[in-house]
Amino acid sequence: MHILHVVGARPNFMKAAPVLRALSHHPTVRQTLVHTGQHYDAAMSDVFFQQLEMPQPDLNLGVGSGTHAQQTAAIMQAFEPVLLDRKPHLVLVYGDVNSTVAAALVCSKLGVRVAHVEAGLRSRDRSMPEEINRLLTDQLSDLLFTPSADGDENLLREGVDSSKIHLVGNVMIDTLVRLLPSAQERFPPNVPRPYGLVTLHRPSNVDDLAWLRQLLTTLSALDDQLHILFPVHPRTRQRLGEIGFVRSPDSPLRLLDPLPYLEFLALQQQAAMVITDSGGIQEETTFLGVPCLTLRENTERPITITLGTNQLVGRDLNKLRDAAKQVLAQPRQQNGSEQRETRVPLWDGHAAERIAQIIVRGSADGK
Ligand code: UD1
Repeated sequence: MHILHVVGARPNFMKAAPVLRALSHHPTVRQTLVHTGQHYDAAMSDVFFQQLEMPQPDLNLGVGSGTHAQQTAAIMQAFEPVLLDRKPHLVLVYGDVNSTVAAALVCSKLGVRVAHVEAGLRSRDRSMPEEINRLLTDQLSDLLFTPSADGDENLLREGVDSSKIHLVGNVMIDTLVRLLPSAQERFPPNVPRPYGLVTLHRPSNVDDLAWLRQLLTTLSALDDQLHILFPVHPRTRQRLGEIGFVRSPDSPLRLLDPLPYLEFLALQQQAAMVITDSGGIQEETTFLGVPCLTLRENTERPITITLGTNQLVGRDLNKLRDAAKQVLAQPRQQNGSEQRETRVPLWDGHAAERIAQIIVRGSADGK
């Protein structure tokens, strides 16, 4: 059986790595890895392949940046001949980035079966490009692997046949579980404590320049004692240039380059709090038991609120300040691994093995 994986952007890599690994243990499976090149900086891509011990991509489509239409179209145009040439039995796509929907669309038009890893997540906010990507990818997919039961419910409500849906757990947590011990050895030197860890890249936060300025001012003054470490995404770096942001010498805010996976994971685990607009980080902090303040009005990952450590502070700076104060006032709970494993069902480090079994069993059954 020939399986082709499509990855493109930073959050895809930690999801694909465990699935590639799990499938490599099945002797009947041959795998091809295609990188669309949506993320191309070494700090956004190459270092992840090294640290996650992923095989080098068989092909890099080199599409790079552009508007959504340009990027999606460029991926489709470059991917179609690859699919015709390689003729896989099944294509695996991950998450909700433009590479995910572009590849799924090409497959469905050519009649090639598609499996979506991380299916069923919904923010119900169609102003997010990722929500459009999720909705379309799920409608086009033949196999849908969900991380949590809310994903199944969303898909059933949208008319997806239940036979296509498989609740397998969270592959991103597989990577975290495997690499946490190595990450702990990579804790960066000279980190001031206590610290909050910040990431920002959503258009809703970084493309509104007046808001971005206010947010940075607020983050710089959350608490006298709190240092703020902020690894800056390339999109955000451009915006900081546009607003001419200069950090004052006595500011507790430290701007860093995007960090490799292991260093970032180590910093997450020891942080007093994480402040973010990322999707995956809401999940990782939930698993780690680290308080997470999410700078969004909604989340496609509600389980991180109901069972985890996440709270939405939206676009409300007072809410952000109050939530940060509250977190700092509470003694930090240390979570043992036993506790963690029971927190969200199936976030146990074995989701990719379940995916591999379902795929291999399906192929044996002629599906
Ligand atoms: C993409 C995903 C988002 C994901 C995020 C994680 C979509 C629609 N969005 O957003 O879901 O959470 O990745 O990082 O697919 N850039 C660089 N170097 C790079 C990559 C990007 O400089 O390696 C610049 C681009 O020039 C562009 C900007 O960053 O101006 C945005 O990149 P893009 O791939 O469009 O989307 P992200 O904002 O990274």
